[in-house]
Amino acid sequence: MAREPKSFDHLLGGKAKGLSDAQLQAHFTLYKGYVTKLNEITTKLAAADRSTPNYSFNEYSELRRREPVAFNGTVLHEMYFDGLGDGSTQPSAGTREFIANGFGSFDAWVADTKACLMSGHGWTLLCYDYDSKKLINNLVQGEHHIGLFANVHVMAAFDAWEHAYFFDYQTGKAKYVESILSGLNWDVLAARFKQVGAAV
Ligand SMILES: [Fe+2]
Repeated sequence: MAREPKSFDHLLGGKAKGLSDAQLQAHFTLYKGYVTKLNEITTKLAAADRSTPNYSFNEYSELRRREPVAFNGTVLHEMYFDGLGDGSTQPSAGTREFIANGFGSFDAWVADTKACLMSGHGWTLLCYDYDSKKLINNLVQGEHHIGLFANVHVMAAFDAWEHAYFFDYQTGKAKYVESILSGLNWDVLAARFKQVGAAV
């Protein structure tokens, strides 16, 4: 069954802090492209010949190799848009404590997330590490089908690809980062923290 792109139109009209409708609409279009390709890959995989898989080239093999690009491109964008807000929500005391347990303090998490986003040109993921039972940051330096940490649960995704901010900020990436981090939807993030048992 084809996966339908989710609507994030509720973010339009200033509901995503610091992001114009034109910037968001362009990003929505890009996101929908990932969903379209994910559906195309899924459909082709269902019918693909599995009898001659090959490392160099084979249709089935290549579909499997590119599937994570479309899958993660879809899911990470949904998490990113889900987490955006207008600054009207605040992290609860429990949320601040959960974050501080991983980073030393809430402000240290903000500082490290800014530093991660300014260090790369793609995704930074806030993850729950099942081994340490703490939150950690995963800077995904390259394409989003490689470089993701193992045995973690992605809690939040932050997009620092140029397409996420260039319309509104051009080269002012730091201002974009500052804006989205100060406008996060803490109700959404708290719900995800609860998935790993955090008392937030
Ligand atoms: Fe993006």
